[in-house]
Amino acid sequence: MRPFAGKRVLLGVAGGIAAYKSAELARLLVDAGATLDVVLTEGGSRFVTPTTFEALTGRPVRLSLWERPLDHVELGKAADVAIVAPATADLLAKLATGQADDMLTTTLLVCTAPVLLAPAMNFRMLEHPATQRNLTRLREFGHIVVGPEYGALAEGEAGWGRMAEPETIVAYAGRALEGRTPWNGLRTLVTAGPTREPIDAVRVLTNRSSGRMGYALAASLWRRGAAVELVSGPASVPPPVGPALRRVETAEEMCRAVSRAAPELDALFMVAAVSDFQARSPVAGKFRRADGPPRIELEAAPDVLGSVREALPTHALVVGFALEDGDDAVDRAEAKRRERNLTCVVLNRLSEEGAGMEVETNRVALLFAGDRRVDLPTAPKTDVADAILDHLEPLLRRD
Ligand code: CTP
Repeated sequence: MRPFAGKRVLLGVAGGIAAYKSAELARLLVDAGATLDVVLTEGGSRFVTPTTFEALTGRPVRLSLWERPLDHVELGKAADVAIVAPATADLLAKLATGQADDMLTTTLLVCTAPVLLAPAMNFRMLEHPATQRNLTRLREFGHIVVGPEYGALAEGEAGWGRMAEPETIVAYAGRALEGRTPWNGLRTLVTAGPTREPIDAVRVLTNRSSGRMGYALAASLWRRGAAVELVSGPASVPPPVGPALRRVETAEEMCRAVSRAAPELDALFMVAAVSDFQARSPVAGKFRRADGPPRIELEAAPDVLGSVREALPTHALVVGFALEDGDDAVDRAEAKRRERNLTCVVLNRLSEEGAGMEVETNRVALLFAGDRRVDLPTAPKTDVADAILDHLEPLLRRD
């Protein structure tokens, strides 16, 4: 899976209780396709055994500097990204002052690849000026500090000091691995999920969109270094790590959120399945069964793309999605592209196995100006998102 496939990842595990979460982190990295080398500090090995990581990675785990001479040089040079999770107060202090007296600290001193640090400790240790100064210093070195988060700590207290979740660390490692891309620093907005139009105080008009495709695109854009605002209707999957999430319910709210951002955007991805209709006058209370089937009068909901198109900068990429059925699917999608003046329309087919709403895979065709069409194979939505961005990349223009 991009960007981990074929990459060497170094995972250092220091001696904190959060080390138990690092086993899950190791599993996620291996699943993503990384070749993972784990180095345990002496303290780390008291919380999780080398056997755990050897079983998860299928590779030898390093504990001591003295097992194989020059192993630290080899490992440090080979890494495409290094992660220290948990990074204890002691380990941060050592790294901030360049101390190198064990396998992990020597390896990290050799490493020139991006280094991610996921601190985990009691909030008092975190707040101590020494730790804060060390973190500032480490950021100055260019290291990426992920977390810590607020939450329950091991001692039955709550505070800042919880290690970032493994999924969060993986997302940041992916961003570091991706490095500089043409999307770096671009301002992008992705809409995702369904909208929900009220009929009465409890009932809504909605659709089956899960949010997966939009969330995958937002995650991929963020990983490539773009600034991403994710305007999401009530989706049924968790939002990705990274993009700034703005939750909305109705087409009107979505339209307002997109309009506000439009003048500043370099790229807009309208992935959301926006309702075309809304109730003309939603009832304040509840329709009662005893009153019989209600007559609900509908009116057009705002056309988000239609309303914001003029406000977008002329250089902005504008991508729409079309869910179509039948033999004239391509013609209909192309008509939408032309009518709304889109850079590209992504065509999903409604009645195709492994494509469209509520499934984890998708098969799409990209339609560009000049009758250019690219058919992508059925793949997980995360891979489809990457392929879409790869095809759009040559069209990017900055203002
Ligand atoms: N869209 C929008 N505002 C709406 C409806 C749709 O901005 N009220 C956007 C969608 O996010 C998508 C594109 O327009 O990117 C095409 O959506 P679709 O529903 O297929 O298009 P419609 O023109 O509404 O056509 P249809 O009659 O097939 O529903």
